[in-house]
Amino acid sequence: MSLHIGAEAGEISERILLPGDPLRAKWVAENFLENPVQYNSIRNMFGYTGTYKGQRVSVQGTGMGIPSISIYVHELFTQYGVQRAIRIGTCGAIADDVKVGELILAISASTDSAVNRRATNGLDLAPHANFHLLSAAYQAAKKFKVHVGGVSSMDQFYDSTDALEKLREFNVLALEMEASALYTLAAKMRREALAILTVSDHVITHEAMDPSAREKTLNEMVEVGLETLIS
Ligand code: HPA
Repeated sequence: MSLHIGAEAGEISERILLPGDPLRAKWVAENFLENPVQYNSIRNMFGYTGTYKGQRVSVQGTGMGIPSISIYVHELFTQYGVQRAIRIGTCGAIADDVKVGELILAISASTDSAVNRRATNGLDLAPHANFHLLSAAYQAAKKFKVHVGGVSSMDQFYDSTDALEKLREFNVLALEMEASALYTLAAKMRREALAILTVSDHVITHEAMDPSAREKTLNEMVEVGLETLIS
């Protein structure tokens, strides 16, 4: 057991999907995995291990924001030997040519969080995806509408600063709240990481996903995530 994950050693696969929402972890386990076994319920942050196409995989909720995902990823890397971690989540588009319902593979994840600067003693690290995972995900995703580009992991969902305009200036495609921490921890601990995101809303146009599109694009994201996990 770790502090926040109730699994015994060996109960979690080296390959894991990381949705922010613990109920999405449950939904993925029940709808996409064979023989899922729940290994965590501490704080209702559900985690499951099962098989996908005969390969053992896990899915673990991380909660929202850099502090929360950092706790789970740290414990998964240091105490459960996770080697390959793929975030699946939603994001808010800020680029004009990115539409609601489309997928984004985050090649890099900038951030306004202080965590990375503290990690590098003031340097601006460029947190980036693992190339093998990015390439495999692109192969799995290209039959859908997919973008590959930079995102930014913001500390504030309700941000009243000019960050949005600045990030648009530098062609950042979308905002979310976790990928940067995942990439930084993976770099430090020499693990493989990727964030696969579906665009749930557009921050500039305020377009939002309707419930039927939501189901379809979430299915696409999970399929791409699982195929990449076993690649
Ligand atoms: N900001 C941050 N995270 C998000 C957003 C957003 O607008 N939409 C979905 N996740």
